[in-house]
Amino acid sequence: MKPAESDTSAPGTARLGRSVHIAGIGSYAPERVLTNQELEKMVDTTDEWILTRSGIRERHIAAPGQATSDLGVEAARAALADAGLAAGDVDLILVATASPDMLFPSTACQLQHKLGARKVAAFDLSAACSGFIYALEVGRQFVASGTHDTVLVVGADKLSAITDWTDRATCVLFGDAAGAAVLRHEPGRRGILSTHLGADGSQKEILNVPAGGSAMPATEQTVRDKMHFIRMSGREVFKLAVNAMLSAARGAVEKSGLALSDINCVIPHQANMRIIEAISDRLKVGMDRFHVNLQHYGNTSAASIPVALAEAVRMGKVKRGDNVLLVAFGGGLTWGSAVIHW
Ligand code: UT7
Repeated sequence: MKPAESDTSAPGTARLGRSVHIAGIGSYAPERVLTNQELEKMVDTTDEWILTRSGIRERHIAAPGQATSDLGVEAARAALADAGLAAGDVDLILVATASPDMLFPSTACQLQHKLGARKVAAFDLSAACSGFIYALEVGRQFVASGTHDTVLVVGADKLSAITDWTDRATCVLFGDAAGAAVLRHEPGRRGILSTHLGADGSQKEILNVPAGGSAMPATEQTVRDKMHFIRMSGREVFKLAVNAMLSAARGAVEKSGLALSDINCVIPHQANMRIIEAISDRLKVGMDRFHVNLQHYGNTSAASIPVALAEAVRMGKVKRGDNVLLVAFGGGLTWGSAVIHW
């Protein structure tokens, strides 16, 4: 094991090992855009309702035959290009997803093959909309420990495949996309300063896909009852989301040794504009310091944070030397946050 380096530990944390930074970031969204106006023709809803209740105007929908790994591999290629690396440089692949290609093999294995990566370890991680931050921390640990040098972390979801397109309460909210980050150590760069992860397994009833796993295997009846689609009690999720994201945000900032006033840009999970505004208000961090793109993507689950982060970097809203706060919330329930010195 390599010795710990002095440039690595963030003040106020007990982190061991090498510093880890995001050497490259990329995203991908399928070509097809589904607008609120089109949804008006599919279910009993209006553009006005969707916009005022969620902030969403349109979302991207994968083509038939395009699986989650196909979205992920595009984002992975973009992230590797951004890092100036090739598929052969990757020595571990993590995919966070709630809509895997199939129950097994993992989406990460499919992605490894499609990317043309070496036969390196590849596995999936399930934490719904918090999945990317969970995977970021898992990947960080591999690089920090010195066992791996280049870790590819992908957040990818094709929620359109598990959406009930006759349920107006959910089908207007989701979209398909993928985002990816390449994690590496570089002497002198601090990178990921802190993370804060949590879960509450007692709340599975308010957000889930009930059937298709071992608890409720697929039958003709489960298909008839639409048990293979996302079920959500929106109002209850909303309340818990605000509180969990607030405490996660505060937790990661405190562990990083920084203050909220030091944060240049917040990348929140892109589920609902009103959730983001409530967090901005309660943290007393102005909306001008948040990056929001849910108008164009909807809620893309594990892809939401890396897609928004990649966009913020492309737009120059996140620059070298900035302090960035990522904060997410999702089914599980799960929540997670990270502070990164970019
Ligand atoms: O990413 C994982 C975490 N997920 C989230 O963070 C989602 C959190 N929740 C939300 O974002 C919001 O709760 C929603 C956007 C899902 C819903 O907004 P809401 O203000 O909580 O509305 P609601 O569920 O309380 O529904 C209000 C009304 C209901 O009618 P009644 O009972 O008041 O007559 C719904 O039936 O709006 C109705 N409604 C709709 N109307 C038109 C529900 N969906 C629609 C729709 N179009 N698409």
